[in-house]
Amino acid sequence: MSANVRALAAKCCFAVVDKGRSLADELPALQSKIEGKDKGLLQEICYGVLRYLPELEHISRQLIAKPLKGKQRVAHFLVLVGIYQIKYTRIPDHAAVSETVAATKPLKQFHLKALVNGVLRSFQRLTPTSEESLSEPVQFNHPSWFIKKLKAAYPQNWQAVLNANMAKPPMWLRVNSQHHSVEKYQQLLEQADITTDYIDPHSGAIKLSSPVDVNDLPGFALGQVSVQDGAAQQAAHLLDCQPNEHILDCCAAPGGKTCHILEQTPNLASMTALDVDETRLDRVKDNLARLHLTAKTIAGDASKPEVWWNGEQFDRILLDAPCSGTGVIRRHPDIKWLRTAQDIEKLVVLQQQILNKVWSLLKPGGTLLYATCSILPEENYQQIQHFIDSEPSAELIPISQSSTSIGWQILPDMQSMDGFYYAKLRKNNH
Ligand SMILES: C[S@@+](CC[C@H](N)C(=O)[O-])C[C@H]1O[C@@H](n2cnc3c(N)ncnc32)[C@H](O)[C@@H]1O
Repeated sequence: MSANVRALAAKCCFAVVDKGRSLADELPALQSKIEGKDKGLLQEICYGVLRYLPELEHISRQLIAKPLKGKQRVAHFLVLVGIYQIKYTRIPDHAAVSETVAATKPLKQFHLKALVNGVLRSFQRLTPTSEESLSEPVQFNHPSWFIKKLKAAYPQNWQAVLNANMAKPPMWLRVNSQHHSVEKYQQLLEQADITTDYIDPHSGAIKLSSPVDVNDLPGFALGQVSVQDGAAQQAAHLLDCQPNEHILDCCAAPGGKTCHILEQTPNLASMTALDVDETRLDRVKDNLARLHLTAKTIAGDASKPEVWWNGEQFDRILLDAPCSGTGVIRRHPDIKWLRTAQDIEKLVVLQQQILNKVWSLLKPGGTLLYATCSILPEENYQQIQHFIDSEPSAELIPISQSSTSIGWQILPDMQSMDGFYYAKLRKNNH
């Protein structure tokens, strides 16, 4: 018998919110317990609950007199799963309620069956609270520390950023230029009845009108195309590697940008893909293998090059730094509940350490591209401003798409892309 999808969803949200586990780690293991369409439904419910968590919590507080604690916490998340389905999905209310109530059994919360049933039925009759009376975290479904930071960074458009984070993200494709031009691949998509609605003029990234199963993409198994957001695809274009150069991608896993660089410039002298996390480095190897590409992979710490570096400087370095991920919340809503303001401070220090260290690995005249999937100034333009102020050999190279002088800040949903930051630096002979 297939497992109850609502029970799995409650378990997944409990693991993320209460145990601090990442959605990307939890969900696939739970999806493996169910079949076909149910996998998609489980994903939809888990993403939805994590997107709307404060609002769902607010509703449940109105309906349950005594909060469910301790061993009953999983039932608390089951209630949120129920409310989410009724409020935000097209599942008929009666089915959402009965399936959710039935989940109390596999969750060993059968004694709470009547309570879950009563709460969901009361919710169907509940008059919604007026928006103005809600606190900002409930109104915008983000943690208050993050809203505060956004208001300070983007006084004009912080609300637009929060709204963009709530949207379901589009699917972008990267065409392997070793196989097809973007135009040719677009024709193949058309023949497969897959419609596109935008092509980025700089990177050639293709945005699909609506997401499809990767196995339906022409040539996916043959490595002719990969799935990668339009913002992430700017990296290879901006780094602009040339034949016979030595390249370092020093935070490479899972390897999306390493592979893109290799597809774009097949005749490099060398490509070194470094990552501190050995398990994640295996994903770089898998991606290289799928695309029939070669790179030297090293498990090592970019802030300690003395341990792994052979002393030969690189022509170009991509530093896709460990970051808060605040630009990709629409793809990873769990980020909102896993990150804290203190994490940001630690990340800023780590980014600075890596930047300082890998700079000495760059040849004079060489280029370093600093990238994050963050939208917080301290990880982005302030980090780079600090670096160029303290490093006389560092010189900023303007990025044509940017309207500001210190790098290029892409906010979520600008041209439908993820939030990202890029700064391009040249090492002069100072
Ligand atoms: C933003 S992800 C990189 C994404 C990758 N560039 C891509 O396009 O697929 C950041 C990576 O940095 C790695 N990392 C974190 N700290 C590191 C360090 N000190 N040295 C090297 N890699 C590190 C993480 O394991 C993670 O894989």
